[in-house]
Amino acid sequence: MPETLDILIQPVAQSRIEEVDFQNLVFGRTFSDHMFIAEYDQGQWQDLRIVPYGKIGLDPALMALHYGQSIFEGMKAFRTDEGKTVLFRPEKNWARMNKSARRMCMPELPEEVFMGGIKQLIQMDQAWIPTQEGSSLYIRPFMFASDEYIGMRPSEKYLFVVFTCPVAAYYANPVRVKIESHFVRAAEGGIGAAKTAGNYAASMYPAQLAQKAGYDQLVWTDAKTHEFVEESGTMNLGFVINGNFITPPTGDTILDGITRMSVLQLAKDFGLGVEERRVSVKEIIQAHQNGHLEEAFGIGTAATISPVQCIGYEGQDYELAPLTEQSFGMRAKKYLTDLCKGRVKDNHKWMTEVA
Ligand code: COI
Repeated sequence: MPETLDILIQPVAQSRIEEVDFQNLVFGRTFSDHMFIAEYDQGQWQDLRIVPYGKIGLDPALMALHYGQSIFEGMKAFRTDEGKTVLFRPEKNWARMNKSARRMCMPELPEEVFMGGIKQLIQMDQAWIPTQEGSSLYIRPFMFASDEYIGMRPSEKYLFVVFTCPVAAYYANPVRVKIESHFVRAAEGGIGAAKTAGNYAASMYPAQLAQKAGYDQLVWTDAKTHEFVEESGTMNLGFVINGNFITPPTGDTILDGITRMSVLQLAKDFGLGVEERRVSVKEIIQAHQNGHLEEAFGIGTAATISPVQCIGYEGQDYELAPLTEQSFGMRAKKYLTDLCKGRVKDNHKWMTEVA
């Protein structure tokens, strides 16, 4: 690793920002002017650079394409009402990226490379941060194996790349989810807690079946019994039952969501009972039938807080009432939006300003 962070900057000749319709952003389709790249070789992160967003040449023998050493993060930058550029809990993304890296036999990223690269990239492309309520600049850091070799071993070379996308809400409407009781996303001892490409690839076929049946996403259950709720394909899950906020505990099989950990803290701050524990499908269905399931929502960086409108299980649909402004989910969502806009006090020091 270089002792001082030396990033070569190659700015675009002409920004593309004028082409963007900020009023009609579709998640993940619009890319800002620049990207950050760092290369790992001979045990060192090197060749740090910010260059125009664009194609990167790939060798057909690239190890990531064959054996799937590929990890990523999702994080967001916001423009406050006062015009400051801020990031939401970026140190948590850095820590999780390195946790994923360890699990996938990939090199960790020093803070100077991860944080230094992202901050400089955001500074350069801050004009791309949308200001519309509920929108943000989504940041996608990712790392993949870049050895040109098809022998089976961890790669010795890696590329770390960061690009950004101005985005609106991931789910424009409340979601319909189906509880999955055949396919499996993650098992004890597996890679479910790593934010690695393979987890998302493996979830696509079952999710597609659910989508054909009229649902937006799955609710994954535990691999051994399918009795306990884990997470959804794109987000963690939270429930309010009898006034208590309940979310399954993270571990080998559930991604340690940064929005999830923030919502857990907010539930405590707002005075709700908080239960981070296994929650069975039976409990959810029974609570719904008894009228005790007050709220169900997805929680994620892209998804923010996405209300669940319907839970499908064993051929039956359980419809939920829309979340009101007074519901915990909507109050937490408003608090997080206000925090990122600089409208409320940052009690937990979650925001980092990009100078
Ligand atoms: C995120 O919330 O940042 C994710 O990575 C989820 C992805 C499906 C967009």
